[in-house]
Amino acid sequence: MANENLSKAKEAKNDEFYTQYHDIEKEVSAYLEYNPDVFRGKTVLLPCDDPEWSNFTKYFAQNFETFGLKKLISTSYAPESKRYKFGYQPTLFETEAPHFDADKSKTHGKIFVLDHDVTGDGVINFEDLQWQYLEGDGDFRSEEICQLRDQADFIITNPPFSLFREFLLWIMEAEKDFLIIGNMNAITYKEVFPLIKDNKIWLGNGFQGGNAYFRVAMGKDYAEGVYDEQTGLVKFRNCCWFTNLDHGRRHQPLSLMTMADNLKFSRHKEIRGRDNYIHYENYDAIEVPFTDAIPSDYDGIMGVPVSFLDKYCPEQFEIIGQTQGDSGKELGLKPFPRELKKLNPSLRDGQLYYMENGIPQKPYARILIRKKK
Ligand SMILES: C[S@@+](CC[C@H](N)C(=O)[O-])C[C@H]1O[C@@H](n2cnc3c(N)ncnc32)[C@H](O)[C@@H]1O
Repeated sequence: MANENLSKAKEAKNDEFYTQYHDIEKEVSAYLEYNPDVFRGKTVLLPCDDPEWSNFTKYFAQNFETFGLKKLISTSYAPESKRYKFGYQPTLFETEAPHFDADKSKTHGKIFVLDHDVTGDGVINFEDLQWQYLEGDGDFRSEEICQLRDQADFIITNPPFSLFREFLLWIMEAEKDFLIIGNMNAITYKEVFPLIKDNKIWLGNGFQGGNAYFRVAMGKDYAEGVYDEQTGLVKFRNCCWFTNLDHGRRHQPLSLMTMADNLKFSRHKEIRGRDNYIHYENYDAIEVPFTDAIPSDYDGIMGVPVSFLDKYCPEQFEIIGQTQGDSGKELGLKPFPRELKKLNPSLRDGQLYYMENGIPQKPYARILIRKKK
């Protein structure tokens, strides 16, 4: 029980990290490079945001005219509804507004709208944002926010990590274009993987090496374990952007060596010097433990690391499936002979395995792919 509480607290804390301006800028630039008019005449909704802390609203408001936006809407979540509570103080921005309400400030979300020049200075930017308290707490699942979602063309944000699946499905059910941050592990979720397999969603341009740094509003004690002294930020590994917006890197095929060259020259000792790639015992596919060791001339199915998806070009490869959860069984992976269990008790039906020096081994999570003809 104590452990459960601890992991819940950790999960809830993971909901309160704020994206850096330059990460948003770098990511969004990749879509604009691919299509400079991607946002022209469109309405963008930034839910689970908070312009007093967050940079999404700042970034889109500052670029309102450059992007040719029609309307920008951003909503925030009520402090009292947050799963992880901390000493909440409204900012001067809020308290100095004529419609400030000390009670609502705690229990209601806020909505920020930008669609015209309010200050009369001839430009539409951050200064022209107008805000109100929402009717409710700003929960993205509420009727009020669903209605805003339905009006919008794009949903863009870093949603609470603990509600990632729900958030993605919330976008998909409304069939909206989107750009959101999540953990790479989400790829293998049973709700997420089929969308990736069918090329309905994919990974965005990405953070440098999957390492993402976020601002934490409440100081370092709050970010135990992930706080980085050097930068004063919190560091998460394996972060990525999920999207259904096209970007150029997605269409750049991986440059790969032939199987023969890999076996001779691969930089990975697990491949170099072998006679052949390992073949799984219970599925007709080879084990490729590194994305850069995918042989360019192999026509059969290959098991590759999940991180391959960061380099996935749909014109180069097709995705056959994955083996997490029950997916392996659905793909037809043969059950392992029971006598092998004595040699490796961790074996489970529905998982890939191969033999190494007479011992059955199971690889890390794999995605099964095949070269496109
Ligand atoms: C990871 S933070 C990111 C904040 C901001 N979008 C950014 O990137 O800087 C997620 C935010 O969503 C809020 N949140 C948590 N649960 C929510 C819910 N059910 N509906 C709306 N917002 C929620 C959290 O309180 C937190 O402020």
